[in-house]
Amino acid sequence: MSGESKSKKSVAEQRSEKSLFDRIWTLAYHRGFVFPSAEIYGGIAGIYDLGPLGAKMKNNLIQAWREFFVLKEVNPPVYELDGSTILPYEALKASGHLDSFTDPTVNCLKCKKVMRADHLIEDSLGLYVEGMTPEQLTRIIRENRLVCPECKGDLSDVSVFNLMLGVKVGPAGGQTAFLRPETAQDIFMDFKRVQQSMRAKLPFGIAQIGKSYRNEISPRQGLIRIREFTQMEIEMFIHPKEIGNHPSFYMVKDTKIRILTREQQKRGEKEPLEMTASEFLERNILPNPYMAYYLAKETIFYQSLGIPYEKFHFRHMMPEETPFYSGGNFDLEVELSIGRKEIVGNAYRTNYDLSNHMKKSGKDLSISIDGEKIIPEVVEPSFGVERAIYCILEHCFREDDGRGWTWFQFPPKIAPVKALVLPLVRKEPLTDIAFKTYETLKKNGLEVEYDDRGSVGKRYARGDEIGIPYCVTIDYDTVKANTVTIRDRDSRKQTVVKRDDLVEILFKLICGNIEFNTLL
Ligand code: ATP
Ligand code: GLY
Repeated sequence: MSGESKSKKSVAEQRSEKSLFDRIWTLAYHRGFVFPSAEIYGGIAGIYDLGPLGAKMKNNLIQAWREFFVLKEVNPPVYELDGSTILPYEALKASGHLDSFTDPTVNCLKCKKVMRADHLIEDSLGLYVEGMTPEQLTRIIRENRLVCPECKGDLSDVSVFNLMLGVKVGPAGGQTAFLRPETAQDIFMDFKRVQQSMRAKLPFGIAQIGKSYRNEISPRQGLIRIREFTQMEIEMFIHPKEIGNHPSFYMVKDTKIRILTREQQKRGEKEPLEMTASEFLERNILPNPYMAYYLAKETIFYQSLGIPYEKFHFRHMMPEETPFYSGGNFDLEVELSIGRKEIVGNAYRTNYDLSNHMKKSGKDLSISIDGEKIIPEVVEPSFGVERAIYCILEHCFREDDGRGWTWFQFPPKIAPVKALVLPLVRKEPLTDIAFKTYETLKKNGLEVEYDDRGSVGKRYARGDEIGIPYCVTIDYDTVKANTVTIRDRDSRKQTVVKRDDLVEILFKLICGNIEFNTLL
């Protein structure tokens, strides 16, 4: 196959002009991963649409997560729920979100800009201020004479701001409700119904994938802090006396995980401890095997999405930053060019939510076991979809291997497009055969694209740029011998296979059942 051409602006030029985050973000806009929502009207800060490639990637991520954390789980089983995103005032009063789901804000008295007070202090002074009261934050601002970073104006005192977005329901707007700030609350409120309708026995999980909304004070860093985002959450309900026994823990007990412990954080250490899931349990660093099970599974899962093992760890949150409902939180943090970012929150929610909903609603959500009323304890992994998508984009981004263009090394299962079909040149009968090949692959359920514009090298480059793992070229040998050439994105090696075997070979490559090298 002919040589591969270079894109107009060299990789080196692009690197010198923009930060890694900006390079990826520009590419993501340009190639249809993400767009500002309602862009033609100026949009709303922190609200984005996923474009054709971003939408496919999101679906692939959700499918991979559902298979791994829901569908293939046998013991305990995990059921699914698709709950409402609008929740009544009373539900969020009971859950604690009305009173405690707040962030500290400070206003510029001159330009009126509103900022997260903790972020302003952290960014300007490098101080860690999580969990401090508004009075303490105000004192730090005054003592350090902090001013507005935009216009240098004076700042107000710090106050607290509730992050929930309210809605008025009904024609007269009579009922106050909120867009849910987490998917979890539907699960707690429906817990008894799910248990009864599925005749479920403890332990069992309920999963939900869907939108959550937070009126973030300063949405920033692309998909990292947005106002409408997708969560994939599981609430695992456990008999309080059985919290020390997870029936399937043995399957992950030897998985190595990395945890930055509270002791290490107090000593100012940055490098996490590495041990197996069962060793962390034995040392009482993890509170129970349910938490250990999820940390191990998450370690396996994120590596399979292309985030290297050494680029993420779990951080045991300090008491002052642990959410109001939690008996212990372990955040999965990924190292990015813009700092460490949480993409999963793992919380030991005890029976906080069920108990509160019981008290406030007056409804019995306990389960009767051997004549005893049991309120289950809960361990919750809470995954963010959009943050994970950005992490995958950054960790799969390649620009250093001398091919002359940037590319994404997405694992095939997450790649938005699995193969690119191209005729060697735009001439019959090559275009006709190529298009038919493309149709056949699509009808077999493969996400493929067809491209007959420009040189083969340019088309390879365009495919690499959006992380397409395989290119399938139709050439004159196809006409003579019904063979096609498959080009591997990562090694750039090529191999010739029978056109009739193409569907099967591509499926095997994408599922990881065969390695490309074995076809050479
Ligand atoms: P942060 O401290 O960064 O605001 P958080 O602790 O509030 O995050 P959680 O409440 O634990 O986050 O939410 C669980 C998951 O939901 C997060 O790990 C993240 O992946 C996702 N998430 C939460 N808030 C946002 C947001 N504003 N934008 C995108 N994803 C979010
Ligand atoms: N359900 C955990 C969270 O969203 O914070």
